[in-house]
Amino acid sequence: MKLPTNFYKPLAIGAPAPFRELPVALERMIHFFPGHNEKVRAKVGEMIPQADVILGNLEDAIPADAKEAARRGFIETAKAHDFGQTGLWTRINPLNSPWMLDDITEIVAAVGNKVDVIMLPKVEGAWDIHYLDQLLAQLEARHSIQKPLLIHAILETAQGVKNVEEIASASPRMHGMSLGPADLAASRRMKTTRVGGGHPGYGVLEDPRADGGKRAYAQQDLWHYTFAKMVDACVSNDIRPFYGPFGDIQDSEACEQQFRNAFLMGCVGAWSLHPGQIAIAKKVFSPDPAEVLFAKKILAAMPDGTGVAMIDGKMQDDATWKQAKVMVDLAKKVAARDPDFAKAYEL
Ligand code: GLV
Ligand code: MG
Repeated sequence: MKLPTNFYKPLAIGAPAPFRELPVALERMIHFFPGHNEKVRAKVGEMIPQADVILGNLEDAIPADAKEAARRGFIETAKAHDFGQTGLWTRINPLNSPWMLDDITEIVAAVGNKVDVIMLPKVEGAWDIHYLDQLLAQLEARHSIQKPLLIHAILETAQGVKNVEEIASASPRMHGMSLGPADLAASRRMKTTRVGGGHPGYGVLEDPRADGGKRAYAQQDLWHYTFAKMVDACVSNDIRPFYGPFGDIQDSEACEQQFRNAFLMGCVGAWSLHPGQIAIAKKVFSPDPAEVLFAKKILAAMPDGTGVAMIDGKMQDDATWKQAKVMVDLAKKVAARDPDFAKAYEL
């Protein structure tokens, strides 16, 4: 076992020291673009002010014969723009693929000082993070990278879910995790053909009724267990949990519901696969103004965070003060980026 005193030491001579705390960032949505698609790439400039994070996708959904073009396209896009406060991420190919090594070596060499986070798909255990951690440190040293590149794991295999706690604590380079419902469904051998969301067949049926009438049926959340496990693993290690993709682009109502479940369970953001999903994520992952105003009342009523207070007939104590603090801290981050929310939150 590695000594705790070595945890924060750079893994290569000349690599930057790992962060002790994650940089503050608003990451309500991670907006994906395919690096090989010229038409979409041409719109990245317009998307930068709209999205909190822009991600160049090199993995699934990029055809095998376009992998190199996607990598080149990502590098050109990274060079071409100033991203300001918008995060710049890439999703590389998995460790066992023929493309991963070139993805990482070429990207760090060309734009390692612009990229914030490397998203690593199909992470199975801490060993995957350790490999990328060491490789990144070597490349950072070679290319004089100034700040450490962070790793974001996709939780999308049964093995990964089993090892989620070890993955979350594998390295100070860990930024967070996204639940990948499409690959996870395949890995678990779930009998679905969707990218996220519910399923009409997964639900609870009311007991037979005395009058023989139609029994009520309610769909249940297929992802609840995984969310809970991922959120606890992430938050207990001070890293960030996210929901991944919602594939039914037309069904914005169901997308909003899936995002909201994630938000309420503790996730900080979700992926957007289409510009329309940016607005949905912005709405869901920015706290509700009414809740923020109520949270501000709690903080004002208990300035040192202890004791008990009644507000609008509801009991408040140290625990609700802490919930209110989470809400107001997030509202401040949103307000700093978005003047309309600043007004609504009265901040
Ligand atoms: C995302 O990569 C997923 O598999 O859902
Ligand atoms: Mg996947």
